[in-house]
Amino acid sequence: MAKIIIEGGNKLSGSVKVGGAKNAALPIMAGAILSEGPVVLSNIPHLNDVETMEKVLSALGITCKKLGPGTIELSSHSGISEEAPYELVKTMRASFFVMGPLLGRLKKARIPLPGGCAIGVRPVDIHLKGFEMLGARVSLDAGCAVATADKLVGAPIMLDFPSVGATENLMMAAVYAEGTTVINNAAREPEIVDLGNFLNSMGAKVSGAGTPSVTIEGVKSLTGTNYSIISDRIEAGTFLALGSLFEGPISVENCNPDSLHAVTAKLQEMGTDLKIEDSKIIVRGPTRIKPIEIKTLPFPGFPTDLQAQFTAALCLSEGASLITETVFENRFMHVSELIRMGAKLNIRDRTVVINGVDKLIGAPVMATDLRAGAAMVIAGLVAEGITEIGNVHHIDRGYDNFVDRLKGLGAKITRQEQDNHA
Ligand code: UD1
Repeated sequence: MAKIIIEGGNKLSGSVKVGGAKNAALPIMAGAILSEGPVVLSNIPHLNDVETMEKVLSALGITCKKLGPGTIELSSHSGISEEAPYELVKTMRASFFVMGPLLGRLKKARIPLPGGCAIGVRPVDIHLKGFEMLGARVSLDAGCAVATADKLVGAPIMLDFPSVGATENLMMAAVYAEGTTVINNAAREPEIVDLGNFLNSMGAKVSGAGTPSVTIEGVKSLTGTNYSIISDRIEAGTFLALGSLFEGPISVENCNPDSLHAVTAKLQEMGTDLKIEDSKIIVRGPTRIKPIEIKTLPFPGFPTDLQAQFTAALCLSEGASLITETVFENRFMHVSELIRMGAKLNIRDRTVVINGVDKLIGAPVMATDLRAGAAMVIAGLVAEGITEIGNVHHIDRGYDNFVDRLKGLGAKITRQEQDNHA
């Protein structure tokens, strides 16, 4: 099992380039199921989750061809299967994104329920209710969600919660429905906008993506397309959280500051000096960051996917900070790992109370999930001494070449593929 080993305390500065957005790439790749022509996608990040989606699509009968670094071609020459294999779906919840496009194109889909994960129960009831609103018959059979329809008919759908995945799945199912679908209380994340733009580039009629009301007028067919994925705002936010702890400057390049307003506002409250340009943000940390309060919310609120990284940074603030997690019920696995490094943290219901300390001290710790893993890297880079992070495969799900890019900023960090003590 791979490990990341960090000798903390080195001064970091320089520039780092943000890659394509994982959470935009995954639903867009699934959306290729809808196309009758080849779909060429660029700015695809090199991540384990992307590879898993390629495997899911291959298992369904979609050909995945690598055309060059970050560019893939997805095409369905022959028949597509409506059934995704459990062995793949269980490893990545986002595999469930294939259900909407399969139902849209084939009028049938059979997808294993993804189950829970380290950050919560994560049901898919909102997705399934929406499919029913479009006229599908939905049932559960041997651990699988099964949906069938003679035809899908556009309808108004009200989501109980602005779920990102449900909004995306329903947008894709509705593309081939007869008539007009309006998804109300839709998620507004930039990745929803990217999916809408991608679908439109194939001839779909999606409007309002990025607002609480997304309208999809059904069409008869979609063509192939060439489409480039947006940059990853969570990766950008991770480097910015790191940058708040160093004099720097650290220049986070190839990002979209418009998708990071909630994050840059908090960084400014923390006392960092930010220079925000068209596609880059330069961060300089203060001598000591100020304590703040954060509440995670659906976009445009502060992203839950940056909660762990900001918790790590605020461990070193001058005073007490509060971070309340409202999106997931149990996303605090990183807290006990940070405590092992000398952080003073308490969980009260859905809030972490962070009493700032003067320093963190390196320790062997675990990446308990993807973003918790990034939080441990941030903590390790600023801690005194050596931090060894285990379960690095979680980090590989969402950060491409993380170790080398941090080395580029001056970090003393290495990756060990083999655990010698194993
Ligand atoms: C997506 C992101 C994930 C991010 C999350 C919230 C991808 C691949 N993943 O996940 O990184 O943390 O948005 O920004 O894009 N819920 C239900 N029933 C449902 C669907 C969701 O109760 O049918 C609940 C979930 O358990 C969770 C909350 O709604 O508590 C938000 O989930 P959702 O927005 O759907 O997140 P994902 O699409 O799974």
